[in-house]
Amino acid sequence: MNTTEATSQTLTLQPVHRLLGHYTPPPDKSIAHRALILSAMAEGRSTVHPVTNSADVQSTASCLRQLGVSIEVVDDTWVIESPGIRNWSAPERALDCGNSGTTMRLLAGCLAGRPFASELIGDESLSQRPMARIAIPLRKMGALIELAEGDTPPITIKPSSLRGIEYELPIASAQVKSAILLAGLDADGATTITETYATRDHTERMFRYAEVDCETLHPPRPADRREQLLENPDAARDDTPNYHHKIVLGERRTVRRTDWEIPGDFSTAAYVIAAAAVVRRSEVIIANVGINPTRTTFLKVLRRMGAQVDFEKREQSGGEPVGTLRVTSAKQLKAVRVGRAEVPGLIDELPILAVLAGRAEGITVIRGAGELRHKESDRIATVTENLRAVGVKVAELEDGWAIEGPSEWKGTTINPHGDHRIAMAFGVAGHWADGPTQLLNPECVKISAPDFFNTMAALSR
Ligand code: S3P
Repeated sequence: MNTTEATSQTLTLQPVHRLLGHYTPPPDKSIAHRALILSAMAEGRSTVHPVTNSADVQSTASCLRQLGVSIEVVDDTWVIESPGIRNWSAPERALDCGNSGTTMRLLAGCLAGRPFASELIGDESLSQRPMARIAIPLRKMGALIELAEGDTPPITIKPSSLRGIEYELPIASAQVKSAILLAGLDADGATTITETYATRDHTERMFRYAEVDCETLHPPRPADRREQLLENPDAARDDTPNYHHKIVLGERRTVRRTDWEIPGDFSTAAYVIAAAAVVRRSEVIIANVGINPTRTTFLKVLRRMGAQVDFEKREQSGGEPVGTLRVTSAKQLKAVRVGRAEVPGLIDELPILAVLAGRAEGITVIRGAGELRHKESDRIATVTENLRAVGVKVAELEDGWAIEGPSEWKGTTINPHGDHRIAMAFGVAGHWADGPTQLLNPECVKISAPDFFNTMAALSR
């Protein structure tokens, strides 16, 4: 992207002719949080490579340091020396999770069974996000947790001992699932979680990689469902629960020290993939990107829209599938329907999908995505506001949008409301606008990808 002018408050983005070259996304944020947390739980020396400058992951590292874990950067690697979770020390002040919901919810799971009190706080946005979703199951496990009025942070946790539970997730949330699993490591008795809609499974994979017994039991698919899918593949996208699997923590629950290799972040790559799919004559190779199937539903939807994304290479790293993707621009994207069953697999890509819908022919309908109202901003509202600003016709629904395309795209002022994914989504759309785009508060991308606009500029022709 040609950036002509950048002040601390505004970034001016110019339309481009094409995108060409290689893009290596920054380390996966979800996996990096978990690698630091599991390293801090294990006794001894672990490593996490490469280091990421994502502000969210830095929040996790700084909270863990306050718990008596040493985390140092040596070259491009984090070296973690921990006394093990049983010997974490009581923090002297509140643990500041910044903007990061993953830091707060996962650490609440770790801290629930500690013999000391702790308090988790966050910035203005995080302080408004719902926390009852973790407090309810953790209390069932015996945790003594209090929330502020409105069930928001700060979270205060008093010492208690935990027991395992059987819990069916009422909302599809990997953060809630992970908080329970992390607390379950310390609990008396077994913990079993049932998921109706599959959410990202990094915690389960990483537990297994660190030698914790954690089994995922998939029920056999009923024959009639299989036949129904063969006849009508669209049925896979309706609201019918399609998974309903169980995650069971077994006997062995001590996290072993591990050397973690973090793949590139698919969620950040998705924004580059989208731009390359739209801007004519583009071809971008995305290298070393995580392609965990619970994270890559965006690719399936993009292909249904007519985009061309091919796998060049697939391999395994640290229990996670990693690959290289080639994206070439599509002639004309087509509208698509996305329902509740697909939403967890592309939850962080929905802002860019909505932006693409404004370029696709027909009316795209995205439903079952009410969770977006509880992200770093109310993403249903912030996407609607900015789509309208660029001239796209959109109906805001309680749980998604109906978006009409293809639309002209005005170069205009974009307000991301401090939300990194809104800034990236409407920032990349600046590629095809009819004039310059003024992005307010561009530095909010530091939450996931501080170098995002510079790396995009390197691909722009
Ligand atoms: C995350 C889970 C998702 C996602 C978030 C990261 C994780 O949140 O939106 O960016 O690392 O577990 P929910 O669990 O709230 O869906």
